[in-house]
Amino acid sequence: MEVKTIGVIGCGLMGSGIAEVAAKSGFQVLIREQTEQLLTTRMQRIEQSLERAVAKGKLSAADKAAAQANMSGAVGLDDSLAVCDLVIEAVTEDMELKQDIFRSLDGICPASTILASNTSSISVIDLAAATRRPTQVLGMHFFNPVPVMPLLELVRTVQTDDATLDVARAVGERMGKKMIVAKDAPGFVVNRLLIPYLLDGIRVYEQGLASREDIDNGMMMGANHPMGPLTLSDFVGLDTTLFVADVLFEELGETRFKAPTLLRRLVSAGHLGRKSGRGFYEYGSSR
Ligand code: 3HC
Repeated sequence: MEVKTIGVIGCGLMGSGIAEVAAKSGFQVLIREQTEQLLTTRMQRIEQSLERAVAKGKLSAADKAAAQANMSGAVGLDDSLAVCDLVIEAVTEDMELKQDIFRSLDGICPASTILASNTSSISVIDLAAATRRPTQVLGMHFFNPVPVMPLLELVRTVQTDDATLDVARAVGERMGKKMIVAKDAPGFVVNRLLIPYLLDGIRVYEQGLASREDIDNGMMMGANHPMGPLTLSDFVGLDTTLFVADVLFEELGETRFKAPTLLRRLVSAGHLGRKSGRGFYEYGSSR
């Protein structure tokens, strides 16, 4: 099956990046958001990102126009999504919400449509179980910022069939991504390794071992990481970091996945990192 049309459900930080990359790769992209207001601001964000790419000489004006022509947005889930060969869900990490979406998509889309989730931690089989097509459900886990990060982690459940994985792989290749395949286990591969590292970075700060700048500079200059752990936690979002940590701790029970109190307190305070304008660092404006 050749994918021509991709639905993207939820156009936040990850969904907008996925939609942008898909449209630039020549797919028809149907974006769905919850409200008109969210849809407008998120389509503007994609437009700005495309404009930045043109200004940097990475995209021609004609390719920008073509990408925009490939995208359309609407509010809610309805029968217009029936044209999709693949739908990628990228809403917030909420099991019930995601299951509702998978149930609705299963009712709307023809039997041939593949349903994917960009979840970073929720078990994909629990989403597949909300559908009558579990063999055609998988995880397509992208990394932030989606237009820049080369990796796409394909997550195969105990029921995902080979044909579904092959189609997802072909889509990833056309998007210019490098792929790894992970089992549907907590954190898959990357978050299983990344989250305990970020939590340790936060613990080192909480215990007063060094300043936030020295912790980050230590890992940037001593280990060649592009960002230190506190900057990266702010970048990923402290709410997302906490959510993934809680899932890992609940499912695996190991203390290295236990979220530090400081992380929980910052999230309670609404200090979610870059997106809220404040996390471990302060940012001029939220973005
Ligand atoms: N959209 C598009 N392009 C962007 C971008 C964005 N949001 N942010 C940066 N870029 C581009 C820039 O245009 C620039 O391109 P160029 O070199 O061709 O001009 C390039 O990326 C480098 O950007 P900058 O020079 O502005 O900044 P940096 O050199 O500091 O790089 C970074 C920025 C790419 C974000 C780099 O700091 C980095 O790789 N950080 C680590 C990111 C990371 O680890 N992400 C994964 C998080 S985990 C995750 O997403 C999984 C989830 O489940 C938790």
